[in-house]
Amino acid sequence: MVRVKVPATTANIGAGFDCMGLAFKLYNEYFFEEIPEGLEFVGVKEEFCNEQNIIYEAMIRCFNKANYKKIGVKIGIIKEEIPISRGLGSSSSCIVAGLIGANILMGSPFSNDDLFDLAVEIEGHPDNVSPAFFGGIVVSSMEEGKAYYNRIDIKDGIEFLAFIPEFTLSTEKARKALPEVIPFKDGVYNIGKAALTLSCFYSGNFDLLKVACKDKLHENYRSNLIPNFDNITNKARELGALCVFLSGAGPTIMCIIKKGSIDIKEGIKKYLETLDGGWKLLELEKNNIGPEIVEG
Ligand code: HSE
Repeated sequence: MVRVKVPATTANIGAGFDCMGLAFKLYNEYFFEEIPEGLEFVGVKEEFCNEQNIIYEAMIRCFNKANYKKIGVKIGIIKEEIPISRGLGSSSSCIVAGLIGANILMGSPFSNDDLFDLAVEIEGHPDNVSPAFFGGIVVSSMEEGKAYYNRIDIKDGIEFLAFIPEFTLSTEKARKALPEVIPFKDGVYNIGKAALTLSCFYSGNFDLLKVACKDKLHENYRSNLIPNFDNITNKARELGALCVFLSGAGPTIMCIIKKGSIDIKEGIKKYLETLDGGWKLLELEKNNIGPEIVEG
């Protein structure tokens, strides 16, 4: 049996649309077992117990790539901390777990980088799967169908607050809200902000996030799909947050504060309670190690 813990992630981090993401110590934990034939699920919601299950589909991609004779598999979910369809990388977590599980069941013919390539092929963009695979903050960029990445550890000194609503938003719907064409000046704006954001994480100069972590490529276009987006982001900034941005395709809003900023935490928590939408505050810690695997 193989047990795999895969972290939640946040993608984009303001201006780094489709190319930046980071990982949290919030996990889904899965187990995989070879069985003589067929497909069995344990601890998986009824609606996902079928061959279209995203974990199973990732496993099949991995088996096929290795020309491995298809075996029966049992897929179990031991712990499910990552909320579904909230922009916190739950589908990436499933894909990464399925690929790691399948690879280990086959005797590990593939490297982590091979599995990452497969994950990007399945997901279509690398910003969530890269931190889910490697932990830390990861920049990744596509070139001729392949994703190239570079990761760094996230330094101490900051805390993450996720504002998670009760309602869900599919990535598909959130991507449909984006324009085909953007003004040249918005592209230039985002290049500068994305580079500056990454430099903050590289140097640990997190104060600069107040200016760096801003976006003109996707958040404005998507904010209509998320009631209270502007109210919440404005409130967090007013209370002194370092930055606040849409987590992936949303609807979760991610906020970074200086470590120990208790007043901001309390203030935003109280504010969220006054809003419709069932917004909850979840405190998250950085994850610099990525998935954890136990075989046996
Ligand atoms: N970069 C993606 C988006 C993240 O914003 O659509 C969702 O997977």
